[in-house]
Amino acid sequence: MRVLVIGSGGREHALLLGLSRDPSVSDLHVAPGNAGTAALATNHAVDVASADAVVALAREVAAELVVIGPEVPLVLGVADALREAGFATFGPGARAAQIEGSKAFAKDVMAAAGVRTAHSEVVDNPAKLDAALDRFGPTWVVKDDGLAAGKGVVVTTDRAAARSHAAECLEIGHPVLLESFLDGPEVSLFCLVDGDTVVPLIPAQDHKRVGDNDAGPNTGGMGAYTPLPWLPDDVTRQIVDDVVKPVAAELVRRDTPFSGLLYAGLAIGADGPAVVEFNCRFGDPETQAVLALLKSPLGQTLNATATGTLADLPPLEWEDGAAVVVVIAAENYPGKPRTGDAIIGAGGEGVLHAGTALDAAGQVVSSGGRVLGVLGVGADLAEARAQAYERIEAIKLPGAHHRTDIGRAALDGEISI
Ligand code: GLY
Repeated sequence: MRVLVIGSGGREHALLLGLSRDPSVSDLHVAPGNAGTAALATNHAVDVASADAVVALAREVAAELVVIGPEVPLVLGVADALREAGFATFGPGARAAQIEGSKAFAKDVMAAAGVRTAHSEVVDNPAKLDAALDRFGPTWVVKDDGLAAGKGVVVTTDRAAARSHAAECLEIGHPVLLESFLDGPEVSLFCLVDGDTVVPLIPAQDHKRVGDNDAGPNTGGMGAYTPLPWLPDDVTRQIVDDVVKPVAAELVRRDTPFSGLLYAGLAIGADGPAVVEFNCRFGDPETQAVLALLKSPLGQTLNATATGTLADLPPLEWEDGAAVVVVIAAENYPGKPRTGDAIIGAGGEGVLHAGTALDAAGQVVSSGGRVLGVLGVGADLAEARAQAYERIEAIKLPGAHHRTDIGRAALDGEISI
């Protein structure tokens, strides 16, 4: 099977790595890819937000399966264009992708599906902002009602900071969503969805804040681990039955069936799971850890989802043990990152590339905020962490930073529900 992957991050590098292990996958292409994906696939410099350009590339490489990683092309309808052109495509069409593209749409679907989520209000008029803020907080949760690569959310006990983020969004014409704060540890549960068939992967936990002990601003994600020793299996089943299946069914009812990966981000509070957000694609960096433990062939799994035969797929198989990914970020990330620095150790084992490129001399340089993800896999969380942090020692990037506590609270038994 010839597979074309769309995207350029650590998630796409992990998808390619998983696909390369599937004996049914013969040929891998990626657009645009990064310096690391070039070792596994042919990189193609194509604008992935352009449906015409992606369809032309799929034709050129005679793709038998196209896997779309990031949300932007999904929300722009690239999957619709590929399906119309006859390509088996992993990823939802534009209407179903609104589950991530519009937080207001997601709330509406959840209300109709009877799914627990935070109480929320949309504010689109600056004159109504102060009164709305008074109805929330502390803690305030302010979300840009659009795609913001994980950085559009501010969670704060400081009303002035909440106000300032909301005002900035409104100034650029984006409505904001104010939400009640959901307490409890967070879980990312990725589910393959094909209409109303739902197959969960193993749950993971992201670390969204930039600094150790959850200090500093939100990022796209600084590291993740899987599975979650503190999360009972029946809670995972409850999330599938009470959250993901009803949402998938509601999308079918609205004649916008979801096909691809539905990512439920939840807080597990005293009253059970409640949805923080839905995404319409694999999460980054959780995917890097989750796929490291997948034993089933990834190409066949994604193809079954893309071709509407997910219900016929044998149960997914997983390695025992645990996986951890630690993100190495460029100086100043999540602000405007410093780029163009040479990276030493980027070719090491377990190193997944995200914001990297090859310079004119063929050297790997940083080209984005999240530069690398370093994986560790072991018999348990302690071993997996130890391996990831040991591998990081061999990597040198001027000004880079990473969290030193990925998975630590779970390992120390500090997370309970
Ligand atoms: N891990 C956060 C995200 O993928 O949005």
